[in-house]
Formats: sequence, structure tokens, C-alpha cells
Amino acid sequence: MARNKPLLLATFFTLFLFFSYILLPSTKSIPPPPPPHQTTTALTEPPPIPSSILTGSAIMPHLGNETLKAELGRAGWKLFHTTLARFPESPSLDERTALAHYLALFARLYPCGECAGHFQKLLVQYPPQTSGRVAASQWGCFVHNLVNQRLGKEVFDCMTVGEAYKCGCAEEDEKKKKEKEVIEPTGSSLEENLKGSGRKVEVVKEGLMNGG
Ligand SMILES: Cc1cc2nc3c(=O)[nH]c(=O)nc-3n(C[C@H](O)[C@H](O)[C@H](O)COP(=O)(O)OP(=O)(O)OC[C@H]3O[C@@H](n4cnc5c(N)ncnc54)[C@H](O)[C@@H]3O)c2cc1C
Ligand SMILES: *[C@@H]1O[C@H](CO)[C@@H](O)[C@H](O)[C@H]1NC(C)=O
Repeated sequence: MARNKPLLLATFFTLFLFFSYILLPSTKSIPPPPPPHQTTTALTEPPPIPSSILTGSAIMPHLGNETLKAELGRAGWKLFHTTLARFPESPSLDERTALAHYLALFARLYPCGECAGHFQKLLVQYPPQTSGRVAASQWGCFVHNLVNQRLGKEVFDCMTVGEAYKCGCAEEDEKKKKEKEVIEPTGSSLEENLKGSGRKVEVVKEGLMNGG
């Protein structure tokens, strides 16, 4: 017994330290974490975003590198069109507002500063159509075509935009492509279809009505 006395004392001391740490947490050593959702509990709806935030000038710097600009563009358009293609068919006012704000900030924060400035002007001229998926997708196709025109690119056939961006999931897209290849063995890619399409100018006119 006597041999274990120092061990017992050490154990008690350790336990004492342990419990005093647990029960009497020091206010100095660990600052309490901020309560989650500190403000949301007090509010019934989110505060409106000041319009200066939505319409302020482009934030990002000039993106000189043309390779990076094109890569970013393809990824950006993919995100842009897929968002619109999957937007609710009958959105609530809340959802419409969310989309309008998202697009305004997408334009303002687009990582290519010089592109962002141009795109913001387009959005002022042709405000986003948020009444539903079809209107939004057609509007998106229309404004992308305006960018295409400014850059001297081919105009996209907006009749196909709903199909082209339905999912945005690689697997689904791949499956669709395979199915399509079975039906039409040649000219099955979007680009190849485009080359054979004679409807491109007509789409711009339709888009103008949608956008304006
Ligand atoms: C918001 C935004 C602004 C931009 N501004 C500029 C700029 O000012 N200067 C600049 O140099 N680059 C800009 N870009 C990049 C530019 O638009 C292209 O993305 C880039 O040049 C690559 O072009 P691409 O030929 O590969 O086809 P992209 O235009 O990138 O298109 C990608 C694919 O989308 C499809 N597509 C084409 N048109 C449409 C359409 N109307 N609707 C739906 N799908 C379509 C086609 O399948 C095409 O292959 C911008 C990109 C974005 C997203
Ligand atoms: C542009 O970026 C690409 C990809 O990162 C790079 O390979 C290329 O060297 C860059 N070009 C210039 C001119 O900096």
C-alpha cells in the first residue's frame, strides 16, 4: 500500500487538474466560439443587398493571358448556362431575386476584369429574365451570343440551349451523347450540328425580344 501512495497522490492531482480544467474553463485561454447564425435568429428575412453592391464596378484585375481567358470563359459559360437550365420552371419571388442578384454579382466578380465590365453593361442593357427556366435560359443564350458577336465568334442556335445544358453532370452528358450517336452516327456534337444549322440569325432576333 505504502508503495502506491505517491502514485495515488499523482493520480488525484491529475484528476484534480483535469476536473478543474473542465469545470472552471479559463476565460483567458480559449475564447468562446462565436454563436452560429448570430444575426439570423433575430431577423425574419435577409436584409436587402444594397444596389451599390450589385452594380459597383468590376472587382477583378485585367486578365491579359488569352489562353487563360478562353479556358475561364468556357468554364464560366458552362456554369452560367447550367445554372439557368436547372433554375425552377416556376420560381418563387425569393428564387427570382436570388437569381437576379447572383447574375449581377457573377458579372461584377467575373475573374476577367475587362470581360466583367463588358458583361455588366450587357446586363444593364438586357436585364436577366428570371420568370422561369425557359425565359432565363433563352436570355442566357442571347447574351452569350452578344459576347460571341463582339468577339467575332459563331452565333449559337438557342433552340438547342435547353437540351445542351440540362444537367451539367458529366455522366448524364456522356450518356446523352452516346444515345444521340446511336440515332445519328455523324455530326452529333453540338459544334458539328451548329455548322449545319442555318438558323443562327433568326435566333438573335428572338433573343432581342427576350432580352429587351
Ligand atoms: C461572362 C463572360 C464574359 C466574357 N467576356 C469576354 C471578353 O470580353 N473578351 C474575351 O476575350 N473573352 C470573354 N469571355 C470568354 C469568351 O466568351 C469565350 O468563353 C472564350 O473566348 C472561349 O470561346 P469558345 O470559342 O471556346 O466558346 P465559348 O464562347 O466559351 O462557348 C463554350 C461553348 O458554349 C456553347 N455556346 C456558344 N454560344 C452559346 C450560347 N449563345 N448559348 C449557349 N451555349 C453557347 C458552345 O458549345 C461553345 O463551344 C467571356 C466569358 C464570359 C463567361
Ligand atoms: C498563358 O497561360 C498559359 C496557361 O497557364 C501558359 O501556358 C502560357 O505560357 C501563358 N502565356 C503567357 C503569354 O503568359
